Amino acid sequence: MPARCSIGDTPFADKSHIPTLYAAAFPQEDLVPLVEALLADPTVLSLSAHIDDRLIGHVLFTHGKLEDRSETVALLGPLAVHPDHQRQGIGKALIAAGLSRLKATGVAEVLVLGDPAYYSRSGFRSASHVIPPYPLPAEWTEAWQWLRLDGGEDDLAGRLLLPEAWMRAELWS
Ligand SMILES: CC(C)(COP(=O)(O)OP(=O)(O)OC[C@H]1O[C@@H](n2cnc3c(N)ncnc32)[C@H](O)[C@@H]1OP(=O)(O)O)[C@@H](O)C(=O)NCCC(=O)NCCS
Repeated sequence: MPARCSIGDTPFADKSHIPTLYAAAFPQEDLVPLVEALLADPTVLSLSAHIDDRLIGHVLFTHGKLEDRSETVALLGPLAVHPDHQRQGIGKALIAAGLSRLKATGVAEVLVLGDPAYYSRSGFRSASHVIPPYPLPAEWTEAWQWLRLDGGEDDLAGRLLLPEAWMRAELWS
């Protein structure tokens, strides 16, 4: 990661720059409504990467539960690094910072829906037994990944319960 890059809680000043960042990182997809809904939830962990006060990366972690279980889990995403700053380790550093914060607060497992070739670099493993809020297309089985933070060796199992912002079928298909 570049030495001038710092990672920390998303400051209020980032809120107006976040839509521009997501539009640049995801030109084909409008994730801004989801990101803004999640940012309005005080239980969601939001971390930003800056170079010289300029927002260049952002990630969200949403806390959830598994039906009939006591553990707290979290869902990673979305994650965006500005195209001018990709492939410098900023995405990986945002993930690591989030995982460390979640581990410290007792989150048992983190789930992510994304490219296994990328998230395996941060320790995620494919094909979680956790049941997502909506059925995933069969070809996304490998993309549904898990990482235990509490020392457990096996994937947890059960239906994932998430806040309302994630309860839209199109986010999962
Ligand atoms: C995916 C993304 C967050 C990665 O951030 P980043 O800061 O560029 O990633 P890092 O620097 O930590 O890691 C880069 C490495 O991961 C690889 N990588 C990046 N995206 C990848 C992908 N989708 N699949 C496989 N490898 C990927 C790069 O090739 C690079 O490897 P190298 O260093 O050996 O060349 C960023 O590219 C991005 O915002 N992309 C557009 C939005 C997106 O797809 N978000 C992820 C949603 S699941």
